[in-house]
Amino acid sequence: MKDIIEQLTLRREVARLGGGEARNAKQHERGKLTARERIELLLDENSFEEFDMFVQHRCTDFGMEDNKIPGDGVVTGWGTINGRVVYLFAKDFTVFGGSLSETHAQKIVKIQEMALRNRSPIIGLFDAGGARIQEGVAALGGYGEVFFRNVMASGVIPQISVIMGPCAGGDVYSPAMTDFIFMVKDTSYMFVTGPDVVKTVTNEDVTAEELGGASVHAVKSSIADTAFENDVEALLQVRRLVDFLPACNTSDVPELPTSDAGDRVEISLDTLVPENPNQPYDMHELINKVVDEGDFFEIQEAFAKNIITGFGRLEGRTVGFVANQPMVLAGVLDSDSSRKAARFVRFCDCFSIPLVTFVDVPGFLPGTAQEYGGLIKHGAKLLFAYAQATVPKITVITRKAYGGAYDVMSSKHIRGDVNYAWPSAEIAVMGAKGAVEIIFRKDIGNDEKIAEHTANYEKRFCSPFVAAERGYIDEVIMPHSTRRRISRALHLLANKTVENPWRKHDNIPL
Ligand code: HXC
Repeated sequence: MKDIIEQLTLRREVARLGGGEARNAKQHERGKLTARERIELLLDENSFEEFDMFVQHRCTDFGMEDNKIPGDGVVTGWGTINGRVVYLFAKDFTVFGGSLSETHAQKIVKIQEMALRNRSPIIGLFDAGGARIQEGVAALGGYGEVFFRNVMASGVIPQISVIMGPCAGGDVYSPAMTDFIFMVKDTSYMFVTGPDVVKTVTNEDVTAEELGGASVHAVKSSIADTAFENDVEALLQVRRLVDFLPACNTSDVPELPTSDAGDRVEISLDTLVPENPNQPYDMHELINKVVDEGDFFEIQEAFAKNIITGFGRLEGRTVGFVANQPMVLAGVLDSDSSRKAARFVRFCDCFSIPLVTFVDVPGFLPGTAQEYGGLIKHGAKLLFAYAQATVPKITVITRKAYGGAYDVMSSKHIRGDVNYAWPSAEIAVMGAKGAVEIIFRKDIGNDEKIAEHTANYEKRFCSPFVAAERGYIDEVIMPHSTRRRISRALHLLANKTVENPWRKHDNIPL
């Protein structure tokens, strides 16, 4: 018995070394942690339980039968984050470059199936060179098995991917089907085909960073939700995100203790909106003053900044926030901001996270670039997502709610549950200047008349009251009481039950 225990200890030690000391040192030289170091940071202390530590590949081509490393390039298992169970797999770049073999894929699939069966979030840490080249088609089959399980788990358990090194070829599509992708600045990159192939096919000279670094995916392509400075920050922020998320689509949102009273008033909000309707203000200020203890986890902070999306809490319970940002492009809805918000709304609806929408939107962005880029379809995504969502939906119009964008931004007409407006709200088909220039075109050139028409239009339509008279707005509220109103509305809607008609699935305009 003693011998066998010693053997186990020895085998564990060997497995835990991954690709060996030299490769681990190289990993550190590159500013990256090893797979096991990452897991230690991500999970609660001593909570990690590893599975399949001794799994080895079965490849016999290219001399691989003499080149086996226990674990086969991926560390898998489960543990806890602030006491709540998560499943995870972490690619080990020190073992065959973290590349995916048939057995490596089987290890991931086992964890995916356990996470889905037991209804807990799954987190993947990526740092790998794609398909195990020596295995060829067996690796392709393995990817397919992983992808399929990503799809089956979508909308049932939260799936989170963190890109912490190379993520190329077959490795990109599993993260792409998860709910959130985070990247580490400077050390991670994602692309379907690398710079060499790009050069051969399109003759473009491009570096890995220019092709698929965090500076591309968190800012331009929106593939990544956020980029963090280093491995440590990324892992700590994932822990923070997990605290906001329910374990699965049938469990309640987590409730954290808070000393921040639901009826806290914020007098400073009464002066947030400037007197001049064309002057911007920072919508983050409203969000930060409404959420518990100013704690807001922003999603896609660096992409389509004209809309803000992210998680906060009210009275300890998670809420998803969507807010137009007047500081950027006056908060206009364009293709990118519509897509960004639509995906966020759908995530919240999948996981029964109530939605709070702050509206200050001058409409949809005009122009050929937008129309050629499919603004109609992208805008429709957001409209569709809001209309379809059955979670509690609370809307507060702080200033402009013009045109079609008024309808889209969780209006009463698409099943907004509680719709508030601040006294500064302007709910109208368009701004006064544009409206007057159309309906009083004959008076253009007569400055006095135009000024009179504009003043009349502003008085009649640039207020919350026309909408309130029709019941499109439930109440015009004091800005300082916004947190209290939303907290109360969330209580009111706690047992909301709405079902959409049966269908196999919808056909959202993709
Ligand atoms: C087997 C691999 C590997 C792979 C890396 N290694 N990628 N082994 N299969 N795909 C091994 C290397 O042989 C090396 O082993 C170790 O990992 C580290 O690799 P290096 O090249 O020394 O590291 P680095 O210079 O940092 O370059 C990293 C890299 C590069 C950019 C990821 O290794 C690379 O380009 N790899 C190949 C990428 C690729 O083309 N993958 C296949 C994509 S096709 P030693 O023993 O020296 O430490 C694909 C199709 C699937 O994925 C599609 C499904 C839908």
